[in-house]
Amino acid sequence: MYQKIAEKYGTPTYVYDFRKIKEQYNKLKSVVPEALIAYAVKANSNLSILRFLRSLGAGFDIVSGGELYRVRKAGGGEIIFSGVGKTEDELRDAAGVLSLNVESLDELALISEMKLSIPISLRINPDISVDTHPYISTGLRSSKFGIPLELVDQALSIIKSGNLSLVGLSCHIGSHISDVSVLKSAYSCLREKFEEIRACGFDLKILDFGGGLSVDLDLQKFGSMIKEVTSGLDAKIVFEPGKFLVAESGVLLTKVLYRKDNGTHKFAVVDAGMNDLIRPSLYDAYHDIQAISGSPNMEEITIVGPVCETGCFLGKARLLPVLKRGDLLFIRDSGAYGFSMSSNYNSRPRACEVAIELDGSIRCIRTRESYESLVASEP
Ligand code: LLP
Repeated sequence: MYQKIAEKYGTPTYVYDFRKIKEQYNKLKSVVPEALIAYAVKANSNLSILRFLRSLGAGFDIVSGGELYRVRKAGGGEIIFSGVGKTEDELRDAAGVLSLNVESLDELALISEMKLSIPISLRINPDISVDTHPYISTGLRSSKFGIPLELVDQALSIIKSGNLSLVGLSCHIGSHISDVSVLKSAYSCLREKFEEIRACGFDLKILDFGGGLSVDLDLQKFGSMIKEVTSGLDAKIVFEPGKFLVAESGVLLTKVLYRKDNGTHKFAVVDAGMNDLIRPSLYDAYHDIQAISGSPNMEEITIVGPVCETGCFLGKARLLPVLKRGDLLFIRDSGAYGFSMSSNYNSRPRACEVAIELDGSIRCIRTRESYESLVASEP
């Protein structure tokens, strides 16, 4: 199948299996049946993926006007608008969202100044440490995200004096979290605050636990924890998963351009680079790499891309069948933060995206960029 796709669409190409997205959505939904699953659009914002998740019943978590535009183009839905740096234009455009998650006192003041009548939630920073890469840990006091607990009273005064409509609380402590007890501490802290604020007379309705769920999460344990943490509470529970829904659905197909053997190190130079998939370079993320190769012999080899940076690698010292020019590789778990973090660095047109539909048929959902498109907005 990958061979056929590579022949038809060329490489590098992202391939997403919609059957896997559906499986993940249903798995999560089965343990938190009442909750709104607001897909974190930043993970993969292709319109076909948004439409597909919408058809399954998902809402959306967005962080920019561009993502809002995409979601509306895909048919809209229940939208959570998160993000630490929303512009005035973005705030104005947000009319109609389910909740605008506010991250600072300054943002509250601006919303009040602009006299926006929009439902808001406070994103709380619970100061909880998560065992994940520091760049994707967001729940610590030292991070730029959320409002620290002791500033919540001040936030409430701004809300009162500005007559703003506070509808909920949210948190998001990081990405790739599989430790249920860490999630429980954050969620419990949020529930406690939720009840406290309700007791002060605010009509809170939404308790948004954010995203960050790892694909390795023990879902049964997670489901029981949610039952326990939310027991007896009358509120709409929201999750904002990105990776959990789409990471495993995707592979990045790439072709070996050259081999290089410098005596001490072996490299396969492939046609996908850090501009296509930046996660290995940026977070030292490990992505399993498989080869479609005729060779029965194995070797240890480093897979690098063509971008002119030593940091442009996809996998270091991997045991793979002996590769030759033209062999095809696929890089697993690339459905989240792959294409959406890609760039045109080195003036490389961005990759093609292809879907495997529920019936197994193949459809191109984004054509490969052209050289003309690279310069289209430059006079
Ligand atoms: N909600 C909020 C407010 C977020 O900031 C994020 C991710 C999510 C939900 C979804 O998180 P997820 O369920 O996908 O872990 N580029 C990094 C991940 C950055 C996540 C940023 N915020 C990576 O490739 O690992």
